[in-house]
Amino acid sequence: MPHIVVIGAGVTGLSSAIALQEKGYTVSIVAKDLPLPSEAIQTVHNLINYTSPWGGAHNRWIPPPLGSVREHEWSVTTFHRMHALSRSNAEAGITFMKGIEYIEAPGPEYADLTEQRARRELGMPGWRRLTKAEFPDERVKWGCEYDTWCVNPMVYCAFLLRRFVARGGKVVQGEVREVEEVWAMKLDLGKVDGMVNATGHGFGDKDMFVTRGQTCLVANTCDATVTRQNADGTWTFCVPRNFEGGTVIGGTKEPNDWNTEPSLEVREKLLSMFAATYPKILGEKREFQVIRDIVGRRPTRHGGPRIEVEETRPEEGKVGKVVVHAYGLGGRGYELSWGVAEEVLDLVEKSVPLQSKL
Ligand SMILES: Cc1cc2nc3c(=O)[nH]c(=O)nc-3n(C[C@H](O)[C@H](O)[C@H](O)COP(=O)(O)OP(=O)(O)OC[C@H]3O[C@@H](n4cnc5c(N)ncnc54)[C@H](O)[C@@H]3O)c2cc1C
Ligand SMILES: *[C@@H]1O[C@H](CO)[C@@H](O)[C@H](O)[C@H]1NC(C)=O
Ligand SMILES: *[C@@H]1O[C@H](CO)[C@@H](O)[C@H](O)[C@H]1NC(C)=O
Repeated sequence: MPHIVVIGAGVTGLSSAIALQEKGYTVSIVAKDLPLPSEAIQTVHNLINYTSPWGGAHNRWIPPPLGSVREHEWSVTTFHRMHALSRSNAEAGITFMKGIEYIEAPGPEYADLTEQRARRELGMPGWRRLTKAEFPDERVKWGCEYDTWCVNPMVYCAFLLRRFVARGGKVVQGEVREVEEVWAMKLDLGKVDGMVNATGHGFGDKDMFVTRGQTCLVANTCDATVTRQNADGTWTFCVPRNFEGGTVIGGTKEPNDWNTEPSLEVREKLLSMFAATYPKILGEKREFQVIRDIVGRRPTRHGGPRIEVEETRPEEGKVGKVVVHAYGLGGRGYELSWGVAEEVLDLVEKSVPLQSKL
């Protein structure tokens, strides 16, 4: 079978590797950073460019025309796969719950979002418009709830990695500096026929930039994932991680901000904003139990994620090699993961068909 090397062991690389493996490809993963318990990471600095540990991570629907058709389709594909996984593998770290959204200044696009359209055409189960009486305060002008999922990121990524290895995948920890290195790799699984670039930030692509996010992990539990968009452009949200992982209270979105240090002032603001919107989070003790601050860099790209084939030019007497890029997932890597993985599989199949081992 053709041998595909996936560079990267974030949620994108792991999901893509499994999708390729399920189809019948021989797959290896080469990655600088591998899933590890986020509780064990002392400082965020050394792993700040590995975004997957720092996500929430929840699925928040962004249907067209609020978002792109392509991304919405990926999120629907991911939803179904997460649903099946949560049923078959309780240890995967996935929890299904209600998603609740409050918006202070909704754009005109929200007017067309009826229950009928949301559930039937857009595939968002359990979608319902909230009534005014259900809003937390009068600044909220629009709200909805729906069925959705959250993951505990490193429980989930470690599960994907184990599944990949249990099914015959090979994992090598290391940094790739030149694409040529990959073609020359000897990974016990035969020569390399294609590569997936799931490096997250795709450093070197001029369209890429980072969007800093500061959140705060608390021990409080919550029964729903709640998101509020304020009129001034700020956000307040919670993502219950479950599996003893606490709840993420967020969060900032700061384009091109490379600061690795969390701000205490921002932490206090995030916590008080969220408690004002969803007081239930405080529980019987009426307070937050802070575990730690989180700073992450969403690998963001002008024009959206790059999921695309690049055929490297064949040198004289050699066969051209195929690179499928899969990076730039920004703030949506988890919620788009299985849709992206299917797209990657599709692109690999077109360039390196299973039947025609080169
Ligand atoms: C605060 C915050 C909150 C978020 N919340 C959510 C959320 O609720 N829902 C959601 O869907 N997403 C969320 N995200 C976004 C999500 O975390 C990212 O989109 C996702 O983790 C990106 O995954 P990735 O696999 O593409 O990249 P990464 O996780 O960064 O993985 C990249 C991989 O490539 C490896 N690598 C890079 N360069 C090389 C190299 N040269 N050689 C070898 N290996 C290399 C790395 O070591 C790593 O293994 C959030 C992000 C932040 C920061
Ligand atoms: C993260 O990436 C940036 C940009 O390439 C680099 O300058 C920085 O050293 C990296 N940080 C770590 C901890 O790897
Ligand atoms: C991944 O893509 C980026 C951007 O094009 C590039 O700089 C990097 O070298 C690629 N990495 C691999 C391993 O293909």
